[in-house]
Formats: sequence, structure tokens, C-alpha cells
Amino acid sequence: MKKLLKQLTETFGPSGYEESIRKIVMAEVKPFADEIRVDALGNLIARKRPAKATKEAKKVMIAAHMDEIGLMVSHVDEKGFVRFSPIGGVFRRYVVGGRVQFLNGVQGVIGYDRLDNMNELPTLDKVYIDVGATSKNDCPVKVGDVAAFDRPFTEMGSRLVAKSMDNRVGVLVAIESLRALKSTPHDVYFVFTTQEEVGVRGAGTSAYGVDPDIGIAVDVTPSADTPNALKMDMALGRGPCVKIQDPGAISDPRVVKWMITAAEKNKIPYQREVLLLGGTDARAIQITRAGVPSGCISVPVRYVHSPSEMVEFSDVQNSVKLLTALLRTPIDLG
Ligand code: CO
Ligand code: ZN
Repeated sequence: MKKLLKQLTETFGPSGYEESIRKIVMAEVKPFADEIRVDALGNLIARKRPAKATKEAKKVMIAAHMDEIGLMVSHVDEKGFVRFSPIGGVFRRYVVGGRVQFLNGVQGVIGYDRLDNMNELPTLDKVYIDVGATSKNDCPVKVGDVAAFDRPFTEMGSRLVAKSMDNRVGVLVAIESLRALKSTPHDVYFVFTTQEEVGVRGAGTSAYGVDPDIGIAVDVTPSADTPNALKMDMALGRGPCVKIQDPGAISDPRVVKWMITAAEKNKIPYQREVLLLGGTDARAIQITRAGVPSGCISVPVRYVHSPSEMVEFSDVQNSVKLLTALLRTPIDLG
């Protein structure tokens, strides 16, 4: 599992440019899915049919976004310095000194040249990417080229650190759950969505196409166990988080109950999640068509949207256990 997570996190895939990551996910899910398709926005949809095709079989959509935040070239100046527009939530506190890699393999350093105030945190329009060019003419990238953070996966004790843990760890949880799910009473659609980081776009179109009875996002959530974190309950090492609310969605209480029952019956540790900032694909699924009862399982992560996002390995393992147990459990939507 760690080997696959390393491969997933080290693969390039900013929003709208998910081709490489989709290829890897495709190869992983192919042996276990009954049907696979890719929709017009690039969402990868892998279906696992119910053991018995009865009226009680509910269509369950699992959404794990494949895309990551990134940077797009907006301007190259005469000396070859590259300005960029963020793709998704690129925070200025995490960029300076970082490295990026472009789709064509070119690497760059994110630089900032004003040293008159050493404590200043520059806004994104003040920083640039230095790709080693000396002029506009020899600059190996052009306007519209896309880059992602460049940082290798590493292990620190039981903690795993990488870029794009958001949401390759969710992608891993979905893949491993499909692999572990020998049989299910539900008609399950594992959807590896695109363009989540720019406003849950892929989840919206795929949910419209799948037309599920129930929606579950699998994503990360910021853990609040660092020295000055917001007052929230999520922490590394206490298991997957069952989302109850974030600013984008209020989870359906019946879906929350289904998740908690599955966790308790199977003795899987879990956390109750109320997130003060952010949102997931659950929002897009919930408000598609005439509405879909939805919820979210999240893996707690430190330093979200930095090039070094950290998870606890046991939380990853328990997230797989919870999603697998859930998909084996019938749901009463009453
Ligand atoms: Co994110
Ligand atoms: Zn995410």
C-alpha cells in the first residue's frame, strides 16, 4: 500500500491535467471492476455490481478526486522569469523556496527577490518561477504550461509525507477498498474525479451521469493537533473522520449513522468531523439533479496544500477498513 501511495503522490496531475494519474488508477482498478469508463471531463468511473441485482440494491457513488493543486504560466519576462496563476488553493506561505515540475519535465524554483523586509510573506504576484533560463527566448516553458509541486514521498516513523496527499491518499483508499470488496449488496461506482481543487467540477458532471442514490466523498481533512490549530477535533492517529459538516455541505444524518454503525460494528476507530474551512466533492454530489443523500470519509492530514502533507499510516489503513465495511453494510434510507 505504501508503494502505491508513493507512486500516486509522485505522479503529476494538477486540475484539468489528470491524464498521467488516471492511467495509473486505471491499471489498478481494471482487474476488480465490472465496467470502466471515462467521461467528458476525464472522470474515471469504475463500477462494481451488486452480488444480487435486487430492488434493494442502492446505487452508491464513491468520489475520490485525482487532481492536485498546481501553477499555470501566465507571463514570461525578457530575462526568462516566469509568473504564474494558481490552480486551486496555492498558499503563499508554502511556495517560496519550493520546487515545481512542468508537464514537459522542466523543473523550476519558486523565487522572491525583495529582502528589505525579511519577515514579509509575499503575495503570489510578487514571486516567480526560475527555470534556469537567461531570456524569454531560451525559456523552456510558455504561457499556459502547467506545473505541480515537486517533492519526493518519504516516511517518518509511522507518518507518511508527500505532495498531493490531498487527495492521492483518498484515491488509494478507494482503490484498496475496491480491491478488498469481494462482494457488495450495493451497485457501487468508484469515481476518480477531476478538477476538485478548482471547485468540485468533475464530481458535478460525474454525479449527474451516474445518478446515484447515495454519494460518499473520500478526501482529506486538516488535522487540528498542531500547536496553534483551530479548535476542531480531528487528529492524526485516531482513525478516519466521519464528516458531519463543512462549509460546503451538511452530511445527510442517515449517511452519517450508516458510517458510524459500520465503524462501531467492525471495531474501527473513527472521529467525528466538523470542519470550519473547506469542502469536498460531497457538496457537488449532494446538490446534483434533484439532490443525493451524501457524506464524506476523510483522512486527517497536516499541512494541507503544502508540498509536504503528512498522514498517519494507521489512519490510511483504517479508512480502507471503514469504506470496505460500509460498502458491505446495507443502508436504510427510511
Ligand atoms: Co485540496
Ligand atoms: Zn482534497
